[in-house]
Order: sequence, then structure tokens, then C-alpha cells
Amino acid sequence: MLWPTITLAALFAQDVSAQVQGSADFLRFGCSQLVVERIDPLVSPGANPSPHTHQIVGGNSFNTTMDPNTIDPPTQSTCTSCIYTEDTSNYWTASIYFRSPENGTFKRVPQMANGRLNGTLLEQEGGLTVYYMRPFSGSNKKTTVPKPGFRMLAGDPTLRSKAGNFANICHRCLQASDRVMGGSGAPCSASDTAAFPSKVCPGGIRGTIIFPSCWDGKNLDSPDHRSHVAYAAGSALAGDKCPSTHPVRIPQVMYEIMFDTTQFNNPDYWKNGKQPFVYSFGDPTGYGAHADYLFGWQGDALQRAMDALGTKCASEDCTKVLKIQDGKNAIGCTKAQLAKEDVGSSTWLQTLPGEVAVI
Ligand SMILES: *[C@@H]1O[C@H](CO)[C@@H](O)[C@H](O)[C@H]1NC(C)=O
Ligand SMILES: *[C@@H]1O[C@H](CO)[C@@H](O)[C@H](O)[C@H]1NC(C)=O
Ligand SMILES: *[C@@H]1O[C@H](CO)[C@@H](O)[C@H](O)[C@H]1NC(C)=O
Repeated sequence: MLWPTITLAALFAQDVSAQVQGSADFLRFGCSQLVVERIDPLVSPGANPSPHTHQIVGGNSFNTTMDPNTIDPPTQSTCTSCIYTEDTSNYWTASIYFRSPENGTFKRVPQMANGRLNGTLLEQEGGLTVYYMRPFSGSNKKTTVPKPGFRMLAGDPTLRSKAGNFANICHRCLQASDRVMGGSGAPCSASDTAAFPSKVCPGGIRGTIIFPSCWDGKNLDSPDHRSHVAYAAGSALAGDKCPSTHPVRIPQVMYEIMFDTTQFNNPDYWKNGKQPFVYSFGDPTGYGAHADYLFGWQGDALQRAMDALGTKCASEDCTKVLKIQDGKNAIGCTKAQLAKEDVGSSTWLQTLPGEVAVI
């Protein structure tokens, strides 16, 4: 996939410098950690446990099965870990583990706040930052929010090489100073890599997952959870065009996930140029990075917010349109594990949860 890198970098540079008044092309907000566990209602509905560990954020109606015929997240959630209370969607991504090169045991890499939000939400461990983006280029800035029950998957957990990888899924090696701001410039640009960073990252690792921007307009899901949506040709951060098979330009969703690797930055763990991290699904390369999305906005709240970009809403600031909650209430929205087990947050595990093999 071709990347209009210069244009995008310029756009994002503008957005970052204009941060106080905000960017007109996206909504950006923080969601704190709901739970870390092996449950995946999209890929393994009903399974408890599912094959690998995820961090989940969003509405607390999250469950092993999220059948749109029986679950309506806005009515069934009693709280959300996202800052906007009308957003009871669920957003989830695979955990990263450190594998000790000394004895082969595993410990989960903690997640940290994305400093872009001034630490107002995510001062505790975990969470992620969600973006909903309108076209970055083209004249039609209008997006259509998908219907309740919509869900999708980005990335492919079976990938272990660059071949066929998703240009819109990447890792950034953060400098110590990036711990506050999360790093600036276009996502998945020059210095970002599809693979895990190959050197010690003083400020941790930022994962970026950009979802498709085009929908077939009919199916809430598809057997592979991907084919009802499509990336617009030629770009990862999309413009206003969509292919005829997937004509509906939906808001483009992006996650930023901050992994605090600093306790594992001892150069002894990086011998022979081998990086020590593995994804919870057994991927030691990083190419299999993926994420899940389950739409759960109340009523037309997201449509109203997207339509207000450039007038009443810009990046972090959309409180004229959306209801915001205090950061401590978002942080306070957590959930007990449905799949009860030690996921290696403080102890060393002999194997990855689920005895997932590293291959
Ligand atoms: C999850 O689903 C089970 C079985 O359908 C149900 O008993 C339980 O109340 C649900 N939990 C939550 C938190 O919604
Ligand atoms: C395994 O190695 C890690 C560091 O690489 C160490 O902290 C841990 O204590 C070790 N565990 C055992 C059982 O030796
Ligand atoms: C972040 O901090 C800056 C500078 O102090 C301030 O202008 C801005 O409003 C803050 N943003 C949020 C979302 O708190």
C-alpha cells in the first residue's frame, strides 16, 4: 500500500501544533482499562476462555458473547471506561509479554497513559486512545456512522512477515521525552515499523492500529470480520473515496496503545540483536498485531460529534456535543475477569496464558 507520507506528516504536524484549539479532522479521547483477560466475543464468541489475552476498554456490558440481537451496550452498560459517557463501545487489543532470555518465563508488559491527553484520564495503568477520523483529503468531509451491532477486526494474527502486512498497523519506538506526548507526526510513518522495534525504546512502545474507512453498508459483521469493510486504495489514513463494493465512508477508527517496556530495557535482555517481546497470541515478530472494534454508541451521539467536527468539536474538545465524565469515573469503571486466571501482570508465567506457543 502506498503512503502519501509527506502530506500526512504535514497534516499531523499541523494538527499537533494546533492542539490547543484542536484538529478539525478527528475526535480523540482516552479510555481506561476495563479488564485484561482471555475473552473475545468477536473471534471466539461464547468461549471462556478464548485463546489469547487482551486488554479491553469501553462499556462494562462486555461479555463472552455480544450478539447484537440480545445485547445493546448503551442500555446494558452501567458505566464506560471512556471519557464520553455516550460511548459504551468496546475496543480491545492483544497484550504484549516480555519473554526472559535468561529463563524463558513471561511477564505482561504494563500499559500506560497516552500523554497527549495531559494525563487527565489515564494516570493509572492501561487504557488506550481512540480516534474517529473524517477524510484527511478530498472535498467531502461527511462520514456515516455504522449501525448498532457493527463490529470489525483490523490486522491478521497469523502474519509473521512483512509479506501482505497492513501498512496501517505499526509500532513506534518512543524516546524518553515521548512518554509525555506519545510522539508526534503521522502515524505509521517513516520511523515506525510493522515489526516490533529492533532496539531498546527508552520511552516504551506505541502500537497504532488503523481500521478500514469503507463499509458495504449492509453487513454488521462478516465471517472473517474483515470483508464487510475495506481500506480505500492508496492510503491508510483515508480520503473521501470508497470502492463501489464498500461505498459507505464511515469514520475511520484508530487506536494508540502505549506499552511501558521500561522495566525490560536492560541491555542484557537484548543480546545478539534479538528483541524480547511477544504478543499474547505467540507472535515474536509484531507483524500479527491486530485489534477488535464493537460499535456501542448511544443513539446518534457519534454522528452528531462527527458532523460537528470543524465547528463545535475538534480533537479532545467535543463537550458542546458529547457528555463527558470525570476522569476518575472512567478509571473507576472496571470489570472482574470472566476468564479468571493470572495473566502475568505481576508474576512470572511458565507459558503465555492459554499455553500459547511462541511461533
Ligand atoms: C454475561 O453473560 C452471562 C450469560 O449470558 C450473564 O449471566 C451475565 O450476567 C453477563 N454479564 C454481564 C456483566 O453482562
Ligand atoms: C526469570 O528471569 C527474570 C528476568 O529475566 C527474572 O526477573 C526472574 O526472577 C527469573 N525467574 C526465575 C524463576 O528465575
Ligand atoms: C492540556 O494542557 C494544555 C496546556 O496546559 C491545556 O491548554 C489544554 O486545555 C489541556 N487539555 C486537556 C484535554 O486537558
